[in-house]
Amino acid sequence: MSLGAENTSPRTRIDQEQLAIAPEFVTDTIRVLTSHESIRSFQTTPIAADALEAILVSARSAPTSSNLQAYSIIVVEDEQRRARMAHLVGDQRYVAEAPVMLIFCADVSRLHYLSQRQGHSFAADNLEMFLTASIDASLALENALVAAESLGFGAVPIGSVRNEPGLIAEELALPTGVFAVAGLTIGYPTPGVRRGAKPRLPSESVVHREQYSTESVERHVSDYDAVMIANGLYAGRQVASDPHIPDAEYGWAEHTARRTSKPETLAGPSAALRDHLKDEVEARGFSIR
Ligand SMILES: Cc1cc2nc3c(=O)[nH]c(=O)nc-3n(C[C@H](O)[C@H](O)[C@H](O)COP(=O)(O)O)c2cc1C
Repeated sequence: MSLGAENTSPRTRIDQEQLAIAPEFVTDTIRVLTSHESIRSFQTTPIAADALEAILVSARSAPTSSNLQAYSIIVVEDEQRRARMAHLVGDQRYVAEAPVMLIFCADVSRLHYLSQRQGHSFAADNLEMFLTASIDASLALENALVAAESLGFGAVPIGSVRNEPGLIAEELALPTGVFAVAGLTIGYPTPGVRRGAKPRLPSESVVHREQYSTESVERHVSDYDAVMIANGLYAGRQVASDPHIPDAEYGWAEHTARRTSKPETLAGPSAALRDHLKDEVEARGFSIR
């Protein structure tokens, strides 16, 4: 069942890349996964409580390292809090627009509590624990995203919750040992906003058989650049840098290289703060040694 107003069989990446996969291997789940696209314009229509519950139980069903369940999800529906969250993530309008934002947090506060409760010391204060908790949170986010899309909703992950970890923690009353890894904004897409799955790098450049191969990187990048330019995905969206080049030559390679050239071009001016993330993460009660 699709609850989205216009989720009529979106085109999958399998169709887009003309992959010859026998139909019996293209399940409904694979159709949902391969037609993913981030949505950034929403109607204000609320999400039914049951639909949200289905999304949350899907999130909680994700695998979790050693069953530690070192993550938490904050459900934000309050209009004013969504507006404040939208501001804190760099004024991303759609965060305020959509009826629900889920914030996926790495969470060791429960594990600290358990150690104390059971009379053990907590010796997992290290980078491995932070990664474990962040991976748990990320897998839960992806499950929620897929569940939401399967119901016909649109969604977009919001990594910019890491711009201002302290202020986000304050807004969400996060205790020590809880760090917001990424958000997920979910809602009914504005009609006509779907553009179809964004082209990806060719399979051979990210899928390596048996051993990593750097062969043909240049060809893959050039081919992908041509596709992205033809799709006009970066037209009018040049990251400011000298020289300004014609849109017809501005593709993924130049856009991506410009984005990774400075912390502030990676994710907007306030994201420069993420250059000091180690301190922020440690201030939130994690240790990264
Ligand atoms: C961890 C993560 C953080 C992201 N953060 C943001 C964000 O803050 N704002 C936004 O508009 N999109 C964000 N995105 C969405 C990406 O820009 C998007 O996935 C990418 O451009 C590929 O497009 P697609 O999802 O439509 O295929 C994020 C995606 C991920 C995985």
